[in-house]
Amino acid sequence: MNETVADLIDIDDVVLDQRNRPLRDLRISLTDKCNFRCPYCMPKEIFKAGYKFLDQQAILSASEIIRLTLIFKDLGINKIRLTGGEPTLRNDLLTIISELARIPELEIAMTTNGTRLEELAVPLREAGLNRITVSLDAVDTATFEKMNDVAVPLEKVLAGLESARKAGFSPIKINTVVRKNWNDKTIIQLINHFRNTGDIVRFIEYMDVGSTNGWNMSDTVPTKELLTTINARFPIVPVETNYVGEVAKRYRLVDGSGEIGFITSVTQPFCGTCTRARISADGKLYTCLFSTAASLDLASFLRAEQDNDLILKKISDIWKTRSDRYSEIRSQIDSSTSHKNKVEMSYIGG
Ligand code: GTP
Ligand code: 5AD
Ligand code: SF4
Ligand code: SF4
Repeated sequence: MNETVADLIDIDDVVLDQRNRPLRDLRISLTDKCNFRCPYCMPKEIFKAGYKFLDQQAILSASEIIRLTLIFKDLGINKIRLTGGEPTLRNDLLTIISELARIPELEIAMTTNGTRLEELAVPLREAGLNRITVSLDAVDTATFEKMNDVAVPLEKVLAGLESARKAGFSPIKINTVVRKNWNDKTIIQLINHFRNTGDIVRFIEYMDVGSTNGWNMSDTVPTKELLTTINARFPIVPVETNYVGEVAKRYRLVDGSGEIGFITSVTQPFCGTCTRARISADGKLYTCLFSTAASLDLASFLRAEQDNDLILKKISDIWKTRSDRYSEIRSQIDSSTSHKNKVEMSYIGG
């Protein structure tokens, strides 16, 4: 019999979906806004002046976020990741983190573009943030600017990373989306830059998330190709996963100068161990990054003063029916008919 992720994780009493996957990670988007315009995520032609972002009153408040997290904790999560958009644009970010930090046995992680880390690293650490991931697609100025399409100096993000290291975040993960003919020629430079820093660079296959980036399979560089390129310059060997269901495949540089990873969602999907639920900034529950519709409007339950047990029951009922595996069936999907209105990554969180 094939082992499932539930067999491999030593936990009882958790809710399982149709493929025996427990609910372990919660990702909450704190805002759908961002100060970058990465063309693979928020292309400028669409996300320009006049674009209708969420209304302020639709966005989950700090106390609503805490309440939902407590409910999900009772459902079995052990990790929460704060995402966006850009989560550091929220001015109550430190309050949210310090409240979350009071919940026992919950790891708090955040994904950021790093532009505000220089001033925020220490306060974030003091508030109780456990781990940080910085999205950074190149350390070559021209490529960096092309990848995020705004005039933020690369030095600002690099200074933010330095502050985060000094504040004690370790290891810091760097997420690099690799896009053919955009930044694929600068990945060796990127590895070289982060060798001996303790930071772990993870190369993400460019995905067809959302409906605005005009994704095409030929824009994705298969991890196999990257492995060949990297091995020729920096020999690498695979390393055991840290935990069941880890998204990145880990490798270490043979010369001992560091670790890198690959997120192979297009060429080698990992839906079989997907234990992630996502909540958008306006409090809707999504059970897959490639969803076209929310499974539940959690904000409306909170605001209708439904009690926590009832909300927990509704989430649990949804999880039990979950059968998502978009990345495994991507090639069989006719995206002109189904999945043509996938939600945007800036809205649902990465
Ligand atoms: P840790 O192991 O806790 O460090 O987190 P992680 O590996 O899940 O890292 P992170 O949250 O930074 O995810 C990295 C990237 O992987 C995301 O930005 C997405 O691009 C991709 N990713 C994460 N989760 C999923 C998922 O459920 N499905 C798909 N297709 N891609 C995902
Ligand atoms: N494909 C792969 N990764 C993406 N991200 C955003 N859009 C895409 C995409 N189309 C990544 C960002 C960031 C995280 C939030 O998601 O680079 O690391
Ligand atoms: Fe902003 Fe991250 Fe999207 Fe880039 S990938 S536009 S930094 S949310
Ligand atoms: Fe999970 Fe959906 Fe990503 Fe598969 S495609 S790993 S089910 S979020």
